[in-house]
Amino acid sequence: MFTYIAKGDPDMARRRIKVLDTTLRDGEQTPGVALTPEQKLEIARALDDLGVDILEAGAAISSEGERKAIKMISRAGLNAEICSFVRAAKEDIDAALACDVDSVHMVVPTSDIHLKYKLKKTKKEVKEMALNAARYALDHGLIVEFSSEDASRTEPSFLLDILSAAVEEGVQRVCICDTVGVLTYEKSRELFSNLTAKLKVPVSAHCHNDFGMATANTVAAVMGGASEVHVTINGLGERGGNAALEEVVLALSQFYDISTGIKLKLLYSVSNLVEKITGMPVSPTKPIVGENAFTHGAGIHTHGVLAEPSTYEPIPPELVGQHRRLVFGKLSGSHAIESELKKMGLKPTKKQIEEIFNQVKQLGDRGKIVTDTELRAIVDSVLGRGFKETLKLEELTVVSGNRVTPTSSVRIKFGDKEFVESGVGIGPVDAAMNAIRKVVEGTANVRLVEYHVDAISGGTDAMVSVVVKLTDGKRMVTARGTSGDIIMASVQAMLNGVNRLLWDKQLRVKE
Ligand code: KIV
Ligand code: ZN
Repeated sequence: MFTYIAKGDPDMARRRIKVLDTTLRDGEQTPGVALTPEQKLEIARALDDLGVDILEAGAAISSEGERKAIKMISRAGLNAEICSFVRAAKEDIDAALACDVDSVHMVVPTSDIHLKYKLKKTKKEVKEMALNAARYALDHGLIVEFSSEDASRTEPSFLLDILSAAVEEGVQRVCICDTVGVLTYEKSRELFSNLTAKLKVPVSAHCHNDFGMATANTVAAVMGGASEVHVTINGLGERGGNAALEEVVLALSQFYDISTGIKLKLLYSVSNLVEKITGMPVSPTKPIVGENAFTHGAGIHTHGVLAEPSTYEPIPPELVGQHRRLVFGKLSGSHAIESELKKMGLKPTKKQIEEIFNQVKQLGDRGKIVTDTELRAIVDSVLGRGFKETLKLEELTVVSGNRVTPTSSVRIKFGDKEFVESGVGIGPVDAAMNAIRKVVEGTANVRLVEYHVDAISGGTDAMVSVVVKLTDGKRMVTARGTSGDIIMASVQAMLNGVNRLLWDKQLRVKE
């Protein structure tokens, strides 16, 4: 356990909270996310390895594909309890039963707004419908988690009444939904304290992030006595999203010593997988799993972190499977640059360091983060090591359009040899990258890890900056290509990165 965060309420310590992950249900409700059954299964396996207790795999009633996915997940032999979302309706429960799930997350709208405008039913009618559905699911051997939708805006006496009746009926758990994220820390703690004191079954918290409060409100719910949290990876979900699994679990463990079954070390890789499969980019500033969560750029910070990481890191990055990154730019300090040069095995003089430092600042002043290749180019020129371009683009052709498969061919000089390769792809950039990758595969063992594109100015004539991250298995480099043509910028970035890796390898051999 990491020790430099003061732990809160000692009474809360040693509790074990259950995690219901709803990435595959509420998370999939994120506009723009639609997963195939195979993709859902891949995420489900990762969530199971991560250690979630309950996996809400989807809503069986929704579609044929959804039923296929839930069945595949139910039959995959996972450790987690597999759950389907259902409305309080026989057809939803039958669909869930047909998918072999262990449990259902049964949603019952309870606020006046939902009753009046959505269900058009009275409280009495809703209660009767809900209890009938709960009985039906229980009679068919399902575990029932009975959820009050819009609970935070529900008349308190009705909320207690319907939840107590569901408990009397035999449901195993109840859930309080802050459907539109209107709780505050204090209100959440109070609401959960009141209900957990009166209900004789475990109570779970389902908080949305409309006001950026979902993590705090979920933690408050646990402080109030909730014993299960509903969360999604990367905080995916409708509108502002759901409470993020990684944030809630870290807050509980680091601030309150409250444990979950989550393997913290897997958080970053699972976040990456979900980002890749859903196509929903994680903001660099996202806590815990964002690219910048453990990145230091400003001189004062890098100096501090190099001296003692805890100066600017509340937890060690390795705890969540992340790593520390130092980036260079106009705010860089000389300590970070010195440390990077040391990592490169170089011992420049004081004067050389000063010169490198000045050039990094100049580049940074032009509004750029300095990539590895740019830093290395500066280092080479200051140390007089003369960078040699190993691969040189001689010719690039790309064919694209609405009636052809995007295809590209490249002619590349490698030393005194010449390579001609072609590639196809889902678009012209992909085709060009694939053609280059074929040349590179034949000459160097280099893998593309990341690809980012930014339009530097607006309009269709914008200058485009492409940054790629490449690795040869030993080293990782970032490299940039800039051009008015996105394909040329991508090709340039790729070749700059490969050339840098090859040149560094030659230097390593010589030194
Ligand atoms: O946010 C919510 O209220 C929900 C329910 C439908 C369970 O996701
Ligand atoms: Zn929700």
